[in-house]
Amino acid sequence: MSKFIDPYKQENGTLKNKLEITDCEVLGQREHEIVTLNVLDYLIGAKKLTVRDLYQVSSYKKIHELLFNEIYDWAGMFRTVEIAKGESQFLSCTRFDYAENDLNKKLIALKNATIKSVDDLAKHLGPIVSDINYMHPFREGNGRSHRLFISLICKDKGYEWNLSNKKQKYNSYFQANVHDDYEEMIEAMKETLVKNQ
Ligand SMILES: Nc1ncnc2c1ncn2[C@@H]1O[C@H](COP(=O)(O)OP(=O)(O)O)[C@@H](O)[C@H]1O
Ligand SMILES: [Mg+2]
Repeated sequence: MSKFIDPYKQENGTLKNKLEITDCEVLGQREHEIVTLNVLDYLIGAKKLTVRDLYQVSSYKKIHELLFNEIYDWAGMFRTVEIAKGESQFLSCTRFDYAENDLNKKLIALKNATIKSVDDLAKHLGPIVSDINYMHPFREGNGRSHRLFISLICKDKGYEWNLSNKKQKYNSYFQANVHDDYEEMIEAMKETLVKNQ
């Protein structure tokens, strides 16, 4: 049924894409390869954002665009359909203006804050990460884009968000997203932030 009402999908359920791939698994694989290469490209500075622009939702959109532009027409653009995952219904797209405004305030507060410890940074980032995940503004690729966005902010503040190499740590962050809980996310951030030497 969903394929008839979801304009992002082909008839067989695979997302429409610029690569003209019709097989869901092949698309997943190619998407992963391209996104990983784009992340590396990005990280070595070829397409760097300036720090001046980093602390705003528009940078998050820019990152999504950089990662997914070769694959989707809507890279870097907010979704126009409602979406859910498991039991979680994400924010209605009719509320994106409000959410963007609120997130920008939190991001600017973090930009201006003096961060002296992992706990300080986690207290700022917990609500930001939770809100970004609840907003889920893109039709696909929200997790990869927000993890890169938040990692860049951490780097700017002198910390590393070390999420990927410990399954249990990833699970704390993942469950905090599923529960949409600020306090749980603050604790997950405390477990995964490391001060750069
Ligand atoms: N049931 C859920 N409730 C809330 N958030 C979830 C749930 N399942 C996954 N997530 C979050 O959504 C992200 C996946 O969103 P998605 O748009 O598919 O991004 P990506 O394709 O980059 O993984 C995960 O990384 C996780 O942070
Ligand atoms: Mg996904």
